[in-house]
Amino acid sequence: MSRKVVIDTDPGIDDAVAILFALASPAFEVIGITTVAGNIGLTTVTRNAGRILALAGRPDIPVIAGAAAPMSRKGFDTTEIHGDDGLGGVSFPEPLAAPLGGAVEWLAETLLRHPFGSVDILALGPLTNIARLVRGHPAAAGRIGRIIAMGGAIDERGNIGPHSEFNLAADPEAADIVIRAGLPLVLIPLDVTRKVRATRDYLALLRASGVPSALVSADLIDAYFQSTTGGESRPLHDPCVMLYAERPDLFGVDGIALTVDVGDGVDAGALVRDGAGATVTVAMRVEAAAVLDLLAARLTA
Ligand code: RIB
Ligand code: CA
Repeated sequence: MSRKVVIDTDPGIDDAVAILFALASPAFEVIGITTVAGNIGLTTVTRNAGRILALAGRPDIPVIAGAAAPMSRKGFDTTEIHGDDGLGGVSFPEPLAAPLGGAVEWLAETLLRHPFGSVDILALGPLTNIARLVRGHPAAAGRIGRIIAMGGAIDERGNIGPHSEFNLAADPEAADIVIRAGLPLVLIPLDVTRKVRATRDYLALLRASGVPSALVSADLIDAYFQSTTGGESRPLHDPCVMLYAERPDLFGVDGIALTVDVGDGVDAGALVRDGAGATVTVAMRVEAAAVLDLLAARLTA
């Protein structure tokens, strides 16, 4: 039984692998891709969503552009990781359909049109679109089935500040709104995503299949190897959202009372364990080998 999902994303090398996994999995019916500025600017992430869908032969899935900037701060530029085109320079076709605008309004209309709880949101970037949905369309936001978001760090060191992770640090105010909103939220933090790692042998496994989605995913992760230093493997952050959505039994979750640092210091956007905070379901454990096998199985099918 597949679940209807909207993917909210800033593609992005690991976003692209996550989207290709979702498109290949019978667990998901992708009904739309909403884009948010994050890894790179809105025009580029929106074009990239269309390019990924063109490669997968799914130009029927709508791409809807969302927030061009965080709610109240200047965003980050991560071209040094994701490349000037946001996809590590990996070859993709051009989009086969023009994107729509107004992602937040499209999300609200979509949630109101579908049965209560029947649409999940898989969030792979800054939470700006989701926060605007909560603020501007609370009745629609209340109809979300599950929202599974890659973001934050609990005990793991951050990748922006000492304790802050990119998606939440890019828009701390949005993260604060979403954490407090009482949504059916599951957070997938760096504590889990850094355990799900692709090695060069894993890339060889993907390439041996000759399947286009697997070949391009291997090229994307290879680009990730080129753009980041050290280590014999690369973490697959965003694919963990889809892997959890399909097989939550391969993860372990805890309820953790959290607040978001919305200050102006180095750790803006960091998650803070706080007894007075909202209790959030957070994935803290993962059967890494099993989820990597699932990812490869879907991409090479
Ligand atoms: O911290 C990892 C997150 O930041 C991922 O979503 C990656 O795509 C970047 O956006
Ligand atoms: Ca992302």
